[in-house]
Amino acid sequence: MINKLIAIEALRAATRDAHERLEHDLQVARPDASRDDYLHYLQDLRGWMLPFDAALWSAAWPAAMEAQARAGKLDWIDCDLRAAGMSQDAIHALPEAGFTPDLATLPARFGIAYVIEGAQLGTKVLAKALAPKLAPWSPRWLAGYGESNAKKWRTFVECLESSLASMEAQRVAAMAAADAFASLADWFAQRRQARLEGVPGAAVAVQSQAMA
Ligand code: HEM
Repeated sequence: MINKLIAIEALRAATRDAHERLEHDLQVARPDASRDDYLHYLQDLRGWMLPFDAALWSAAWPAAMEAQARAGKLDWIDCDLRAAGMSQDAIHALPEAGFTPDLATLPARFGIAYVIEGAQLGTKVLAKALAPKLAPWSPRWLAGYGESNAKKWRTFVECLESSLASMEAQRVAAMAAADAFASLADWFAQRRQARLEGVPGAAVAVQSQAMA
């Protein structure tokens, strides 16, 4: 049990505004969000995470983090895209953001992992709002870590606090998290624009009926 949460507060302070903007700008977070908005969100998130996800989780982490158990999120996304009717070839052809953060130091890795693990926290809210539009489908991404969601986040925060003791480490992590949010917001905006302009392949290319 940790008494003082210092590192996480540094990360929150560095990314709070960016997260608010993201929630405000994302179509999938709006009350009228549709199934296609959910699929676009997954496609875009995939395109952002893919270039660095494997390197992030296969790097060195404190054993208590159980990094390998956090490494399958692209599979969750692919599972949903396939269930919605996309072929594996079409999934592989999705555009990538090209974001390749510096993962050389543990604090920088924690900053990036904070953004990815934290995204699971909003999933409950998203799942509740989208449930009527997606029923009877229960997407894999929205299930997240399931019953272990809260425990996984608690463990992450504990590892973060014990690993980022110095102010310098917290500064590096906060900068990495802020950069990650900035690149993600840019990417979402680019993809939204491509869809508005009708760029071929930008709009959802899946069957009209998702499989349960
Ligand atoms: C899709 C719309 C989104 C909604 C509705 C949403 C909503 C939320 C909510 C309600 C929380 C607080 C949960 C809690 O304290 O239990 C949260 C936390 C967080 N979300 Fe999001 N979120 C969204 C997207 C994202 C995305 C795309 C990312 C980054 C990839 C992200 C990163 C985070 C982070 C890092 C936290 C942790 C904040 C902290 O407690 O330190 N969120 N989100």
